[in-house]
Amino acid sequence: MRVVLGVGGGIAAYKSAELVRALQQQGHAVQVVMTQAARQFIQPLTFAALTGRKVIEGLFSEASPEETLSSAVEHIAVAQEHDALAVAPATADLLAKFAHGLADDFLSTLYLAFTGHVVLAPAMNNAMWEHPATQENVAKLRARGCRIVEPEEGWLACGSIGPGRLANPVAIAQEIDLLGIQKKDLEGETVLITAGPTQEPLDPVRYVSNRSSGKMGYAIAEAAARRGAKVVLVSGPVNLAAPRNIETIQVRTAQEMRKAVMEHLKQATIIIKSAAVADYYASEVPKQKLKKTATRLSIELDPTPDILAEIGQSKGDRLLVGFAAETQNLIEEARRKMNSKKCDMLVANYVNQDGIGFESDRNEVEILSRSGEIAHAGPADKIEIAEKILDQIATLRLSLHAADARA
Ligand SMILES: Cc1cc2nc3c(=O)[nH]c(=O)nc-3n(C[C@H](O)[C@H](O)[C@H](O)COP(=O)(O)O)c2cc1C
Repeated sequence: MRVVLGVGGGIAAYKSAELVRALQQQGHAVQVVMTQAARQFIQPLTFAALTGRKVIEGLFSEASPEETLSSAVEHIAVAQEHDALAVAPATADLLAKFAHGLADDFLSTLYLAFTGHVVLAPAMNNAMWEHPATQENVAKLRARGCRIVEPEEGWLACGSIGPGRLANPVAIAQEIDLLGIQKKDLEGETVLITAGPTQEPLDPVRYVSNRSSGKMGYAIAEAAARRGAKVVLVSGPVNLAAPRNIETIQVRTAQEMRKAVMEHLKQATIIIKSAAVADYYASEVPKQKLKKTATRLSIELDPTPDILAEIGQSKGDRLLVGFAAETQNLIEEARRKMNSKKCDMLVANYVNQDGIGFESDRNEVEILSRSGEIAHAGPADKIEIAEKILDQIATLRLSLHAADARA
């Protein structure tokens, strides 16, 4: 692979030289980009000598106008020519810049222009790492598909003990190396995915909804695209950016979600219904805002369309994957739902456990198949869970194709 290695201004910058060596030993070509602050910690000459390439340091070239013209948009060219962007050490400042889309130096501009894999290896003082601002930035970047190589616990250069030490350069190199063997087992498939909650209006300002964040569905959509599938994502209202290079249809209500799903059903070979569709809606929504009165308010709700059951009735040879969020009797409820909705597979999780499920970046699920097998995944980042779910789907798809071929 062609890897751009961004080096930030932290004590651990000297370890990036070891990372360069580890990547080269794995057969990767490395181009180093250093920030201004990084040069306070390590000389560009070290990287230039190791890579045999000029280290990129600034957004604006100091070369002559003629030379500048040939590389005037170097950050775009570098973005297009490389398969992976790794940043080690990823300082608190760089994480904040990436999370917020700032582009005031070469590395942060390159991050925005980069459409390939991004691996971030943070390193900093433990209080900086644990600060809510840093943690929110990391969560945001993770939700966007960046791989975070977590810092290790131990003695830090500042004298304190805790999480914040740069992960072992060999482990970071392995993480980057794994990207190169990206599975392409969903090539030729068209995956239709629903994600997020729906909102069912009660009046012009109020609605019934649920706590689904859409993170699980978005992670599956992005992972399926990485694995070679054409992906159509039908999303309820969420606070997530539409994934790059994925056709995303934004909907609000269960009715709108049904319509969008039915319109795209024909082209789909795999349908993954991870959305938390509201079960009830108000069929008669008043035109004016409901007024507060001292008396009890009763609102009549009707069942929303059961999209999963409807697809199950006429799915043909499409592979149908449902989701079940439960607070008790997980496996029994999941099995009942899988059978009654005619799903081929069902992903079930508890939603009453702290730190996983709704609104979280992490999840723990049971993946039930019609054959009776149950695969467990997690607790892990939703990106990792997404890969495990797709592993199961790809295996099932393969076995169904093989059965068809035998028939
Ligand atoms: C001696 C020293 C060590 C530092 N080590 C770190 C560090 O390990 N991690 C970090 O996030 N910031 C560290 N900083 C702060 C960064 O250098 C500072 O936030 C800088 O703006 C980061 O620049 P960058 O965006 O180019 O990485 C350190 C600062 C000093 C003076």
